[in-house]
Amino acid sequence: MSRIAFVNGRYVPLREAAVHIDDRGYQFADAVYEVCEVREGRIVDERRHLQRLARSLGELSIPSPVSPRALGFVLRETVRQNRVRDGLLYLQVTRGVARREHAFPPVGTRPGLVVTARARDRAKAERVAEAGIAVITVADNRWERVDIKTTALVANVLARQAAREAGAGEAWFIDDAGFVTEGAASNAWIVSREGVLVTRPAERGILRGITRTVVCELAAASGLKIEERPFRVSEALAAREAFITAATQIVMPVVKIDGTPIADGKPGPLSRSLRARFHEAAEIGD
Ligand code: PDD
Repeated sequence: MSRIAFVNGRYVPLREAAVHIDDRGYQFADAVYEVCEVREGRIVDERRHLQRLARSLGELSIPSPVSPRALGFVLRETVRQNRVRDGLLYLQVTRGVARREHAFPPVGTRPGLVVTARARDRAKAERVAEAGIAVITVADNRWERVDIKTTALVANVLARQAAREAGAGEAWFIDDAGFVTEGAASNAWIVSREGVLVTRPAERGILRGITRTVVCELAAASGLKIEERPFRVSEALAAREAFITAATQIVMPVVKIDGTPIADGKPGPLSRSLRARFHEAAEIGD
């Protein structure tokens, strides 16, 4: 079965799907995106992802391409047409097509909208989670507005590639003061010596991950103690557990940082239980 993409109003086979070379997403990464998990054919946390999309668009003064209702329909239809049971949904909104000129295009330029969906092997992801992943650390050299989910991800691309070359699954960015900000495509967490969940506040330096928000809610509902504060690599190395969160990873245990094992070098019980219970707290669509 050929995969189908939604591109600016039409559902087209992936191999025919194309955008204009003057699309500002292509020219300037003048675009925002979202990635949602699809589980048993349903979109996970759609409402929160669309809320964050609206915020990203607002911060960049990109008009919404379609109404939230129409977008919801397109998302579901893309999942349906691709017959995705377990997988990922990707959506990107760009400032549209215009002659290359840095300043905004004329008012009325139509924003671009692309939606794709693909299946993923859930059993394989579970096997990865059972082993846990290694992370490396790299200097955070990104711009200040990483709270906006833009497609300007080249620093993240280089960080993730460095991780891959080091045999690791993720790179953690470190800010100028020596604190972990987040992963190349995930939020970073530890379980402190005292058993407290620690993750950086979402006010500065990170993307407010939807998975992060849901894990915070799940932890609070389970009576676990959470501290939203920055932490250093040294604290992470001495921690009981570490993990990352993202729509693509859910809760993924981290077992090594820069080659040094965390605790006994195995996924910790809290990380495993938060992963197992994540979907109790997530909003699962129809
Ligand atoms: N990335 N931080 C960064 C830099 C991210 O790119 C992501 C997700 C997150 C976690 O956000 P959420 O829990 O809402 O997925 C944090 C997506 C999955 C990606 O780029 O593929």
